[in-house]
Amino acid sequence: MGLRKAGGNWVDGDSFFDRDAEIEALLERVEDGTHTLLTAQRRMGKTSLVRELLRRLEGRGEFASVFVDLEDATTAADAVVEIAAASRRIRSAWSRTKHWITQSSDVAMDRIQELGVNEVRVKLRAGVDAGNWRARGDAVFTSLAESEKPVVLAIDELPILVNRLLKGHDYLMTPERRRDADLFLSWLRRNAQAHRGRIRMIVSGSVGLEPILEQAELSAHANIFAPFDLMPWDEEIAIRCLGELADSYGIQLPEDVRRKMCRQLRCCVPHHVQQFFDKLHEHLRRAGRLSASLDDVSRVYSEEMLGVRGQVYLEHYQRRLRLVLGDEGYGVALDLLTEAASSDGVLTNRSILRYRDYVSSLPDRPIVLLRDVLHVLEHDGYLTRKDDGYRFVSGLVEDWWRARHSHGFVPFDSRLQ
Ligand SMILES: Nc1ncnc2c1ncn2[C@@H]1O[C@H](COP(=O)(O)OP(=O)(O)OP(=O)(O)O)[C@@H](O)[C@H]1O
Ligand SMILES: [Mg+2]
Repeated sequence: MGLRKAGGNWVDGDSFFDRDAEIEALLERVEDGTHTLLTAQRRMGKTSLVRELLRRLEGRGEFASVFVDLEDATTAADAVVEIAAASRRIRSAWSRTKHWITQSSDVAMDRIQELGVNEVRVKLRAGVDAGNWRARGDAVFTSLAESEKPVVLAIDELPILVNRLLKGHDYLMTPERRRDADLFLSWLRRNAQAHRGRIRMIVSGSVGLEPILEQAELSAHANIFAPFDLMPWDEEIAIRCLGELADSYGIQLPEDVRRKMCRQLRCCVPHHVQQFFDKLHEHLRRAGRLSASLDDVSRVYSEEMLGVRGQVYLEHYQRRLRLVLGDEGYGVALDLLTEAASSDGVLTNRSILRYRDYVSSLPDRPIVLLRDVLHVLEHDGYLTRKDDGYRFVSGLVEDWWRARHSHGFVPFDSRLQ
């Protein structure tokens, strides 16, 4: 059986393609005891890379692994519960944390192993609160450090939690919220340092941690992590991936067809490559054919990838931007990206200055800093610096944006001058 198609969710094993160099580099870091901050733009395959790494590590038997997803956590106590629940598979950790359950509920010790993971979470949650989360969290780390094998602790979506701690649901960074985020990050840092030899952390997320910390002037907390940037596939790898998918599903994609697909995307974000394959495959199936032509590529790109259903993914992107930037910053980001989309994908410095003047003339002008918004757009992979400004990194995201929001803020006439 060859490479399988992926839905939208993370992949490992038979559906995981390439990334050999990245897996090797991360293995080396795990062996060296380095804590890693995995960063990349959206849908690049961060979660998949970590999942596949943990799968291979488990296979080798030298390390134990724990994977924690903080997407739904809103407080430090939630995060401690998630880490404790995910640590259930490590004997030393579980023998300590299961006592919390008997202390705070009527579940008897000999019934605990019958609980499902969600029940464990709920019961653990009853024993962790704003007053004791740090002590409880320290205990989890200590028990992980006592595990027979060194532990790789992967924490996905940490930046989302930090962002929530900082800004709550109304996106306002108050001094109390900043203090809460500071306390949580200090706690994490202290534990990462204290157990360096026994626990190595891999932190990742669908939004960047650094721009969020920078907004709150808490950047020092990221110092314990060595950054690791996950890049898009280069064209040759994406072409090979498309070839393997085509073989698995019994269709023919000649090399020039595959190359055209990659050129159209411009930036081979694995999820976009998979999406393109899936839509082309569906198109051939409907047409009752087994081989694709260059024309099929153009048609599927403009009708399917850029069509209403293809654009659903753009909403994902937009939701995450709003989460990090808040309503006001999101409004500014929309303006900047729309301006770039309607100016051949380029946001010139001149346009940025013009926009700054325009915004500062507004009676209720946004207090968000243009610089912060640009930093997030750059860090999260929308824009990259170019001679006299910025341009879209991905052809697909640029075209999506253009299809969705067509008018820029610089009047068309003055752009021609
Ligand atoms: N190594 C890979 N091999 C094959 N497909 C991949 C690979 N990595 C990522 N993908 C594709 O990208 C999709 C998204 O992967 P994943 O969820 O790991 O990305 P992510 O960077 O964690 O995304 P997000 O930013 O939303 O958290 C997968 O469903 C799959 O289609
Ligand atoms: Mg992810």
